[in-house]
Amino acid sequence: MGKLTLDRILQSQGFGTRKWCGEVVAAGEVNIADEIVSDNRVFETRGLVFGIFGEEWIFRENVYIALNKPANFECSRKASHHPGVHTLLPEQFARRDVQPVGRLDHDTTGLLLMSDDGPFIHTQSSPKRHIPKVYVATTHDPVTPGLVASLLAGVKLHDEPAPLAALTCSMVDTHRIEIVLEQGKYHQVKRMLAAAGNHCVALCRSQIGGLKLDGLGLAEGEWCYLDDAQLALLKPD
Ligand code: URA
Repeated sequence: MGKLTLDRILQSQGFGTRKWCGEVVAAGEVNIADEIVSDNRVFETRGLVFGIFGEEWIFRENVYIALNKPANFECSRKASHHPGVHTLLPEQFARRDVQPVGRLDHDTTGLLLMSDDGPFIHTQSSPKRHIPKVYVATTHDPVTPGLVASLLAGVKLHDEPAPLAALTCSMVDTHRIEIVLEQGKYHQVKRMLAAAGNHCVALCRSQIGGLKLDGLGLAEGEWCYLDDAQLALLKPD
């Protein structure tokens, strides 16, 4: 973004309208390098760290976030039956249009990526990208070798022209199965389990590409920024 006036910097980070951000600057609520900056000076945005309302904020041109999604939150922008996942993030992020990368069902938990980088969201959610996603499903009936074999061989879903198969699939314990998918069709795991004769009672996404939820140390409902090394794990091999 290069150099910007302080009001535009605050606006770009989702603090509010340019007018409101200008008033915050004039009120002496912003400091840079321990100096209160109340005139609307220009700053280089790269590497900029500022304080606002007593809190430190690092300038980010775009944000890339991993959220450990709890159940009963919707990914949709106009959430209707449950609160939206954006309510789990600082309000600045909704103002800068941070959105989920793809969708998880309201009752699915686990790793959800979010960003305000349109091209990143588009590429990352493209079906052509073939990024494996790992799900752990809890099943109503016991997991059997036959269930694993069916999911590996492919099951026919009624609105899909060809059977869909898991990339890999293995039993975790009597009622849990790990399923790795490259596609992201609507309710895919639940529908595949139903087509294979079982029923999904709980679903958690544990990994996207090489990025594992476990390695992020996030409790349910918590989020973190992703750094370049973590983002590199989201690329196909
Ligand atoms: N498959 C499903 O059935 N639901 C999800 O949320 C994700 C994958």
